[in-house]
Amino acid sequence: MTMRRLHRFVEKLLNGGRPRPFPVDDADADALRVAIELRAARPGSGAPREEFIAGLHRRLARDQADAAPVPVRRRILVGGAVGAAGAAAGVIADRMVVAPPAAAPAAKSLTPDVGAWHPVVNAADVAEGAVHGFSAGGVDGFLTRDGGRLRAVSGTCTHQGCRLGVHERTKLRCPCHGALFALDGAVLYHRLKAPIPGLPRLAIRQVNGVVEVFVPRGPI
Ligand code: FES
Repeated sequence: MTMRRLHRFVEKLLNGGRPRPFPVDDADADALRVAIELRAARPGSGAPREEFIAGLHRRLARDQADAAPVPVRRRILVGGAVGAAGAAAGVIADRMVVAPPAAAPAAKSLTPDVGAWHPVVNAADVAEGAVHGFSAGGVDGFLTRDGGRLRAVSGTCTHQGCRLGVHERTKLRCPCHGALFALDGAVLYHRLKAPIPGLPRLAIRQVNGVVEVFVPRGPI
């Protein structure tokens, strides 16, 4: 295809006309893609006619499937027709060859295997919003039900190991230095000189309606 003919084709397309069909090579295909993008991006101009674009895409796909691979991607800058939109055309062409990022690998779940499961309470006995304190396997903890889901956290303060108590039915309070924890273990308040970590979560499961807590061997 000559540059003059290609120029006429792009001019007609940008003006909303209906260019005549013709066979294309790789370079022509690049220029035509840019023209299609520009035509669609013009304010108030609307998209090219769908049947024309569909036919053009079919032709491009067929012709390119038969073509030999080209080592370096060729680009045609269409002189007057593209004009000041040249920079935008480059952006469009580059965007077209960027592959989507690969999906991130799924996170792995780690299951502790050194420790033991200990029964705590019947699941049906823990109502929504309730806080159930327990001692099992040498560990103190609190079991709660939030949004229907059961959750257990350690009941030992992460500052110096004092045993926590329920405070105002929605928090856990340390009697030693006044630290406050949320029921999910997050630190809400303290007046200590250094930050303290939140309460560790404890793994739980249900066996025949009984909630069991996993107590790892060693310190939590
Ligand atoms: Fe709990 Fe110090 S031991 S705040």
